[in-house]
Amino acid sequence: MPRRKADLIVGVQWGDEGKGKIVDMLAQKYDMVCRSQGGHNAGHTIWVDGVRFALHLIPSGVLNPKAINIIGNGVVISPESIIKEMEQFDNLEGRLFISDKAHLNLPYHAQIDQARERLKGDKAIGTTGKGIGPAYSDKINRIGFRAGELLNPKKLCSLILEYFTQNRAIFDVLEIETPDEKELLDELESYREKLGVFITNTTNLLWNALDSDKKILLEGAQGTMLDIDHGTYPFVTSSATVSAGACTGLGINPKDIGKVTGIVKAYCTRVGNGPFPSEDLGEDGKRLGEQGHEFGTTTGRARRCGWFDAVACRYASRLNGCDELALMKLDVLDGFKEVKVCVAYELNGEQIDYLPSDLENVTPIYKTFKGWEKSEGARTFQELPAQAQEYVRVIEEITKTKVGIISTSPERDDTIIM
Ligand code: GDP
Ligand code: IMO
Ligand code: MG
Repeated sequence: MPRRKADLIVGVQWGDEGKGKIVDMLAQKYDMVCRSQGGHNAGHTIWVDGVRFALHLIPSGVLNPKAINIIGNGVVISPESIIKEMEQFDNLEGRLFISDKAHLNLPYHAQIDQARERLKGDKAIGTTGKGIGPAYSDKINRIGFRAGELLNPKKLCSLILEYFTQNRAIFDVLEIETPDEKELLDELESYREKLGVFITNTTNLLWNALDSDKKILLEGAQGTMLDIDHGTYPFVTSSATVSAGACTGLGINPKDIGKVTGIVKAYCTRVGNGPFPSEDLGEDGKRLGEQGHEFGTTTGRARRCGWFDAVACRYASRLNGCDELALMKLDVLDGFKEVKVCVAYELNGEQIDYLPSDLENVTPIYKTFKGWEKSEGARTFQELPAQAQEYVRVIEEITKTKVGIISTSPERDDTIIM
């Protein structure tokens, strides 16, 4: 008999699409929720009965007391950040597991990240400053440290000091000091005390769960346009944010992946620098930001806003193998007289309908549609105004992907399942 497969949630724009809300909502029906990449640069917001939770490293299944939450080997973990995040929840033992192969994102990684951004001046990427790039670079450079090494703080302490000695010349340029040995050891001891019981071989856990027919949900972080290979390089994050990243980031094979749902806002946002063809720098963009409360969950920065980019979405849908889209924040378009969709780009005087490798020089070509008064809070497709229904159909048609979920407020229940 064919085995049950793990379902996957992936961001298809520039992050912050509303992955947290959907994972939390779906988690009620899953036994296990797993993160496979990214770090505490992610900020996944969940609203339940008016109470807000902001998650960075802990999977968004944590509000479902029955779900087991896994942080896979592909994630970079800041012990300091996860310890703080864990304080929001009781009884995580037995329902949160951290891969012993996940790389550590230590305080010096954030220092390196921030120093590099400062040195880049107006060419800065606009990172979250959380040390993500440097932590992944160390992993790829084979000079990183893994969560499993936290179980032996003394040894790890001496290895970190050795790392500082070997990289002294670079640290001098970046003006970063070597940590004090005693302080470092105390810190590592406290990480072991607080995190030790959660660190394990999560690949085995996952394989056992797959073998025993458990329902597994994989939660992406960031979004496709921020992918290290397929995003708007170099204005990207440092991990594989596309669905394929879930395999390496958790230790499962492609045949273990089942349904893929791409999470997409009914418009577009981006935090940080880099190309964003459908950005609206006028009144409409400002209004989208205000109606959508578009401020970063992790850094509080104002998000850049613009219209739905169907070219980018179609590309992302193909890259990720999306079976369907979850169209989020439709309510944010309420009250606009007209809404626009970017249906193609112009590049060097020619109209193109694919994503070029460099998005810097494309100009968006829009189609305009009539707006609607109110979709907020709708829970069935029939409740949506006719123009909003039409908008959903247009998106399905141009992105060549079915819309399976529509979200009309931050709350769990204000969701239309098609
Ligand atoms: P994530 O990183 O993909 O999980 O998304 P974020 O949590 O960073 O950003 C999405 C924001 O939109 C959060 O503040 C959510 O509470 C909010 N949100 C999610 N779905 C909806 C929706 O359908 N309507 C509105 N108005 N807000 C939503
Ligand atoms: P979630 O999971 C939106 C962006 C940063 C910056 C670029 C590189 O909440 O969707 P990094 O700190 O990763 O090196 O920054 O990536 N970025 C995100 N933007 N949502 C996120 O996560 C992001 N994580 C990173 O703003 O442009
Ligand atoms: Mg976010």
